[in-house]
Amino acid sequence: MKLALLGPEKRTYSELRLLKECKQIFDTVTYFPIQKVVIEFDGELSVIYRGKNILDYDAVLPRIPRSYLHFGLTVLEMLKGTGIKMPIAPEAVLHTHNKFLTLILLARHEIRIPKTYLSLKRKALEFVLENVKYPVVLKTVYGCMGKGVMFADSKESAISIMDLLENLHQPVFVEEYVKNPGEDIRAIVVGERVVAAMKRKAKAGEKRANIGVGGIGENYRISEEESELALKAARALQMGIAGVDILPGKKRPCVVEVNVYPGLKGIEAATGVNVAKEIACYMLDLCSK
Ligand SMILES: Nc1ncnc2c1ncn2[C@@H]1O[C@H](COP(=O)(O)OP(=O)(O)O)[C@@H](O)[C@H]1O
Ligand SMILES: [Mg+2]
Repeated sequence: MKLALLGPEKRTYSELRLLKECKQIFDTVTYFPIQKVVIEFDGELSVIYRGKNILDYDAVLPRIPRSYLHFGLTVLEMLKGTGIKMPIAPEAVLHTHNKFLTLILLARHEIRIPKTYLSLKRKALEFVLENVKYPVVLKTVYGCMGKGVMFADSKESAISIMDLLENLHQPVFVEEYVKNPGEDIRAIVVGERVVAAMKRKAKAGEKRANIGVGGIGENYRISEEESELALKAARALQMGIAGVDILPGKKRPCVVEVNVYPGLKGIEAATGVNVAKEIACYMLDLCSK
């Protein structure tokens, strides 16, 4: 079987790990740097890098950096209906790029999410600030790794953050604060299973639990309810691979984000699970379906 890995020119830990594990079980694995591929139409469609065509492969594993979202999406859309196996629906790349849209799609599938509001204008959302409990969360729609998540302790601070978002022509995204002790859960879904889960603890004085902003990950025995929630979220977004961020909540857990290309470094280190191998095996299974 032949696998194409479509990722950034500069490979990160995750791409290197995936390459290594995929090479153990596939006959051929080729890395296609997204910045270097050429989409061709010359009577037939092809996606070429150094004379190799992605369309000659059995499966493609995408890890497309956010900065190349639209080009990446063009490639994935082109591969639809060609028989090449993909672990995620191309739409999932677009949907999960927009955090707000992700939540709305999840809610449609009756998955618990925090109360959320979105507007281009701060004034339109001031009514929310009258009734909401503080702190309140403000986010950029396209942020990642904790960058773009802000907490306001009062209406006044919320307004000043909203002003900034409006001024930067960013949608104003307000979210109810889900009470938690500075901890969240990252569940990695591969196929029909949660293959690894970690609890991330925010550093002292910080509310964001992301490892990228100083959070510490530790292995976590995920509950049945949390596991079901993660699987349901991945299914709702048509993703066979997903990193689902869950907050335990007061009574029941809720999903705050779904990541289409979860980083493997933190989760492999915290859990000792060979997540890259799980993904490689899943890709091989896909090929035989
Ligand atoms: N509604 C919320 N209530 C409380 N904490 C939150 C909420 N949303 C996010 N957080 C905290 O901020 C972190 C980052 O938020 P998330 O939406 O996952 O964005 P990112 O893409 O930056 O990871 C979460 O892992 C969690 O620790
Ligand atoms: Mg997150």
